[in-house]
Amino acid sequence: MSAARATRVLTGITTSGTPHLGNYVGAVRPAIAASRAPETESFYFLADLHSLIKAQDPVRTQRSTLEIAATWLAAGLEPDKVWFYRQSDIPEIPELTWFLTCVAGKGILNRAHAYKAAVDRNRADGEDDDAGVSAGLFMYPVLMAADILIFGADKVPVGRDQIQHIEMARDFGQRFNHVYGRDWFTLPEVVIDEQVATLPGLDGRKMSKSYGNTIPLFAPRETLRKLVFSIVTDSRPPGTPKDTDGSALFQLYQAFATPAETAAFAQAFADGIGWGDAKQQLFERIDAEIAPMRDRYETLMARPQDIEAILRDGARRLRERYATPLLAELRHAVGLRDLSAGAAEASGDDSGDTAIRPAPPVFKQYREADGRFSFKLVDGDTLLLQGAAFAAPRDAGQWIGRLKSGAVSPDVDADGVVRTDGIEIGRLAEGVDAAAFAAALARLAEDAAT
Ligand code: TRP
Repeated sequence: MSAARATRVLTGITTSGTPHLGNYVGAVRPAIAASRAPETESFYFLADLHSLIKAQDPVRTQRSTLEIAATWLAAGLEPDKVWFYRQSDIPEIPELTWFLTCVAGKGILNRAHAYKAAVDRNRADGEDDDAGVSAGLFMYPVLMAADILIFGADKVPVGRDQIQHIEMARDFGQRFNHVYGRDWFTLPEVVIDEQVATLPGLDGRKMSKSYGNTIPLFAPRETLRKLVFSIVTDSRPPGTPKDTDGSALFQLYQAFATPAETAAFAQAFADGIGWGDAKQQLFERIDAEIAPMRDRYETLMARPQDIEAILRDGARRLRERYATPLLAELRHAVGLRDLSAGAAEASGDDSGDTAIRPAPPVFKQYREADGRFSFKLVDGDTLLLQGAAFAAPRDAGQWIGRLKSGAVSPDVDADGVVRTDGIEIGRLAEGVDAAAFAAALARLAEDAAT
């Protein structure tokens, strides 16, 4: 791979549900901060193809995609500085998914946590192993690998539950590189942010949709207030010192406050602040951070056509820049090729950092019926160059030697006649062009050098 390019950081956002404060603190806020790091090319996308595995209600799928796009924009993602797009707008992703599917080991997919968990549940219930399991769930890691590999991501920040998926992306990428003989794909590294706190929910357990204890990120101010006041506390009255340890109220406050504000809040706990006052302070603190975003969110939600345009524009530029050219190369690499192009071209483009090299083309010297000496250059069964005829075998041999070592770089004219210093040394075979011939010579020279 070429030297200095910005580090590519890529992450996918599953488009399901309505974002809550836990998503904001745990994912959105740190990701947006990271997107402003220097020397970084960031990719953020809405994983809407993935969402179809779980959510099959079209209205909710559309709604959730809109809400999540608006959330990221409202929270400060800058679509002119980072790549922000929708997975389903890049048809090269499902195309690459198929190429990877054909090198991915089924046994590896059998071991994916989400799939295994479904099988285990079925076994516990005495059901058939795969009862109710869609092939989409099974293939989830391959689609995710395509998301990552298509843009050459170096780093993928995700939650712990996704580590295995990144390992699989490396595995599939590596297999593809191996089978198709060069480093097509960068192997991504997982990034786990240890700093990011998990936010407690209203009942003190981790804030999660599945516990029904969430505070929606963009709840109206009054709703936010009510929800904050419903956070579970103990029954200590005002004037009695309170523990910050294990207090959901305190942890929530900390997630939105500076260290100095947090220290002051801890002091207020020690001084016996009443729960009502503490909740009021927490509410004001959260609202101070959220209110400007909530305004932007509402503006965006009122103009879905603007969001649509932003997403389409991101995908269009990204396809043009990376996805379309890469898939053209990959199609060629796997052999989905223009049938009218000479088969010689098949292996003629394999310069670069080749892991497995196809056998180079070979010269064959022979004697013609008229007694003169000639040679051919053949690649497998394909004739590339028909050499001119010479009176002495030495002459034919010398040209072979020069062509092999790269000592000469012959010219090819419009009729396919090959000359060096004006001397005709041969003619390209039907369907072989100058580029394919040059590529074949390059492979020979490379082979001679190793
Ligand atoms: N599976 C990820 C999650 O549930 C979402 C995702 C899809 C993703 N494609 C990705 C994350 C590619 C990182 C990279 O969180």
